[in-house]
Amino acid sequence: MVTDSILSITDDFFRLGSQPFPIFLYCAGNGDAVLLEGSVTVSGVMCIEQLQSLGIEPSAVSRLLITHSHGDHVFGAVPLRDTYPELEIMGSARAQEKMADLKLMSMFRDVDDQSTELLKQAGIVESRHVYARDESPLVSVDTVIAEGDRVELGPDDFFEVHFAPGHSDCSLSFYHPSKKLLVISDAAGTPLTACNRWWNLYFDGYAQVLETVDRLSRFDADVLCPGHMSVIQGRDAVQAFWDDARQALAKCHQHIIDSFRTGRTRREIAEAMGLGVYEGYPYTPLKFIQKTCSMLTRRSLEYEEIEY
Ligand SMILES: [Fe+2]
Repeated sequence: MVTDSILSITDDFFRLGSQPFPIFLYCAGNGDAVLLEGSVTVSGVMCIEQLQSLGIEPSAVSRLLITHSHGDHVFGAVPLRDTYPELEIMGSARAQEKMADLKLMSMFRDVDDQSTELLKQAGIVESRHVYARDESPLVSVDTVIAEGDRVELGPDDFFEVHFAPGHSDCSLSFYHPSKKLLVISDAAGTPLTACNRWWNLYFDGYAQVLETVDRLSRFDADVLCPGHMSVIQGRDAVQAFWDDARQALAKCHQHIIDSFRTGRTRREIAEAMGLGVYEGYPYTPLKFIQKTCSMLTRRSLEYEEIEY
């Protein structure tokens, strides 16, 4: 049984896909249906079903905004692109470049396959959501967008594009000023309420994520969408999210530094951290989560200029 489905956030903004790997739908005033986040393959298939159940005309599904090139934010674009041939896939120049890297994307697609299995085990997706693989793992970005651009949808109806480095060097966030919607994906980390902890995600740089958090937290947002699990609703909740994000970043960073100084290896630190994350987020393979935690240890040690 599919345990989670469409979440109506406002009357024109919805969470589709699955809760662990969402795709957001914005129904613009001009009739366009804009998707934000590429997600995993199975979420792309779920999204097609959900768009149909919402009565969205296929011709209205016009744009998919990619937040960054990581596999769990990209592969849902494959079934979506196959179903909506007019779909314009938009992302940063760096994401376009990375999404054309065969070795990188092949590795990400193996993880995508494993996530499919984990989601099936958790009862979140069914066999019918499993999509026949393309031979090539590459997904192309049709249109490059960058800091300062706007995705125009009508009068006073647009998403601003913001560069949001630190998680990845290709990360974008999207902000709709009049609707006060902010889609940040993995830019600040992911709260995991099931285990009362955060999955910290400063894979590309600790200082950069701190700057990104400072910058994005100044946006006036009523709805904030991280890349996994939760949707933050209400101004106060959004501000609390930013406070929590800062605390979680500082705590994770300090834990790594203290652990390293007491003689634990990077590997030991990363494996233990990864186990904690997997407890609250068993939808990405444990080994891959631990690999990402190893990147955190590197970034924290670099930030403190500690040799490792
Ligand atoms: Fe990511």
